[in-house]
Amino acid sequence: MEISFSTWHAAIGKRRSRRRFDPDLPIAPETLAALEKVCNQFTPFASARSRLVTESYENVFKGVIGNYGKIKGTQTFIAFIGDMDDEFVQEKVGYTGEAIILEATALGLNTCWVAGFFRPEVVTSLIEVAKNEQVMAITPVGYAHEHESWEEKLMSRFGRSHNRLPLSRLVRGLPKEQWPNWVSVSLEAARLAPSAVNRQPWGFDVQDDGITVFVRTSGPEFNVSKRLDCGIAMLHMEVAAANSGCKGEWEFLPSPQVAKFSIHQ
Ligand SMILES: Cc1cc2nc3c(=O)[nH]c(=O)nc-3n(C[C@H](O)[C@H](O)[C@H](O)COP(=O)(O)O)c2cc1C
Repeated sequence: MEISFSTWHAAIGKRRSRRRFDPDLPIAPETLAALEKVCNQFTPFASARSRLVTESYENVFKGVIGNYGKIKGTQTFIAFIGDMDDEFVQEKVGYTGEAIILEATALGLNTCWVAGFFRPEVVTSLIEVAKNEQVMAITPVGYAHEHESWEEKLMSRFGRSHNRLPLSRLVRGLPKEQWPNWVSVSLEAARLAPSAVNRQPWGFDVQDDGITVFVRTSGPEFNVSKRLDCGIAMLHMEVAAANSGCKGEWEFLPSPQVAKFSIHQ
């Protein structure tokens, strides 16, 4: 399946992590079918896949302390699964999963990447996962309450809110005055990507022939790879580039670099 660039580009600005869902607002079967189709068909990398689960138990999610901070109010989630034999599995799962998140957003649904506070053993009791695979993250799917509860607001702040760093802190290489339009829109879209505890670990090196994504920050990963976050930013970057008429391809690179995006001339 190709990138739905205009739909997903529009969803980038609308998406926000939500953690409290309205159990009285079920998802219509046709909406679930549309989401499941994209989960099954958007598989740009052999080592990353997504599975929709519609009937689960709330104990899939864990609280930060006890039940505090737990995702509540929906039985539906999507698991993002990676083949751990691939050295670039983290970025590939981030990239693939974010496409599904943006599709869910475009369908009017709310989501939240959850990489730490879930129980993988509950997920693997609900879907088949091969020996070499790992459930790297999940997202709840549903309709959030219109207004954020005090607990949800506090959890957003725990994730250091929805604020993002300016591009001036993230970019090196070719000066801004020399960026073609596709570079400006792609970097802006990448900047808006979600990341674990909003840490925004990415950096972008702008060159004449493309953009290299690298891990900019040092410090602990807290069990969630920064390369997974970078994969999410990569998807945003490519969606925005495609939406401005520039198609390209990725070359995966060893750490601390992540991957280089070069557009077809
Ligand atoms: C890889 C990843 C893992 C995350 N894990 C969690 C989590 O375990 N629990 C949670 O409440 N939020 C989690 N988040 C959501 C982030 O806190 C959120 O994306 C960030 O604060 C930015 O806010 P926004 O998504 O509303 O823009 C995660 C996000 C990403 C990208």
